[in-house]
Amino acid sequence: MVKEARGRNLFFTTEVAATIESSNVIFISVNTPTKTFGIGAGRAANLEFVEKCARQIAQNSNSHKIVVEKSTLPVRTAEAVKRILKSATNPNASFSVLSNPEFLAEGTAIKDLLNPDRVLIGGECSEAIEQLAGIYGRWVEPERILRTNLWSSELSKLTANAFLAQRVSSINAISALCEATGADIDEVANAIGTDSRIGPKFLKSSVGFGGSCFQKDILNLVYLCEHFGLHEVAKYWEQVIVMNDYQKRRFSTRIVTTMFNTVSDKKIAVWGFAFKKDTNDTRESAAIYVCRDLLEERAKLTIYDPQVSLDKIKHDLAALMTNGSGELSENNRKLIESNVQVADSAESAALGAHAIVVLTEWDEFTTSDFASVYQSMRKPAFLFDGRNLLDRKILAGFGFEVHSIGKS
Ligand code: UDX
Repeated sequence: MVKEARGRNLFFTTEVAATIESSNVIFISVNTPTKTFGIGAGRAANLEFVEKCARQIAQNSNSHKIVVEKSTLPVRTAEAVKRILKSATNPNASFSVLSNPEFLAEGTAIKDLLNPDRVLIGGECSEAIEQLAGIYGRWVEPERILRTNLWSSELSKLTANAFLAQRVSSINAISALCEATGADIDEVANAIGTDSRIGPKFLKSSVGFGGSCFQKDILNLVYLCEHFGLHEVAKYWEQVIVMNDYQKRRFSTRIVTTMFNTVSDKKIAVWGFAFKKDTNDTRESAAIYVCRDLLEERAKLTIYDPQVSLDKIKHDLAALMTNGSGELSENNRKLIESNVQVADSAESAALGAHAIVVLTEWDEFTTSDFASVYQSMRKPAFLFDGRNLLDRKILAGFGFEVHSIGKS
């Protein structure tokens, strides 16, 4: 897409000031990571980059501009953006601020862009809203373009991600009960998902959700609720994250207890490190947490992910194992250096391993040669399926001892 449009109606530039001057519509699409310092650290969104953009737009504007918030922002950020824009000194500068959150998911971004469930535009100036709607209207049906006030639009983005994450935490909570009672989580998900009011999507039990958005946006929502004194509401949403952390820890604990209460010095093949298939993104991936837990138990990890490099894996583990004052202890550094390696295929990772741990649902894992994988492993050959990706019956037929999520 980029190749086709570049130089035609898509241009990349570092001439920020001149480009602002010549633009009618400006999208702010910068990062809003969770704050790691100061007030609201660990919860609030860091709005430094958004504010810098707004200041730069104010400085370089000489006519009317539509400024579109594309970044995910706390409710009422538009208020701050508007105030900063008011500081523009050029008398011909004026602004309409719109909120137009992005709902696309990784791995399906282009599909989601071309065929969105909905486009949301929040704002106060109907002329500006219609101009932006006109751009989307070139490929999106009119009934899918929703218009709201600014604050509803900002809040809808956080709420959509909170609801999606809540579904995963809800099904994961039930997976723990399934393991205790003999019910099967995939059967339960299928049974409830056929109720048209509940629907089948986002009910896949897993080792825990990851990615750059869910945790960040819920923490942000929790912070907002607390800011407005809504402590019960804050606690309610915070529980989605508590449950996700529990699910990750529960999985690694199950690995250790099943393997005779020790994984020390045992080779464990880790299949998948990305937070979901078809992406090389590892941000908040459950794999980082599970690998950290196994490393702390002194396991020897051989990781295979078709898209994630050894450097990235080591960097993620070091970041998680760094203490509050930003230091990686000598002990942890040595553990990562000596107990983590990568393999160039799922099969070679499993060579001589005591266990396979599936942490990302890559399609290629389903077509592995399980007969020879089993032959090449230590016995009993454990397989812990954190994505319920593989067929338990077939694997058991080869001789594996299989442990899946939400299945006793
Ligand atoms: C998400 C939202 O879907 C998207 O609308 C928003 O714009 C950005 O955040 P993304 O982070 O790319 O997109 O991934 P998504 O497909 O939503 O999955 C998030 C996490 O939940 C992944 O770790 C995934 O494995 C997990 N998940 C998802 C489950 O464990 N079970 C499910 O049923 C669905």
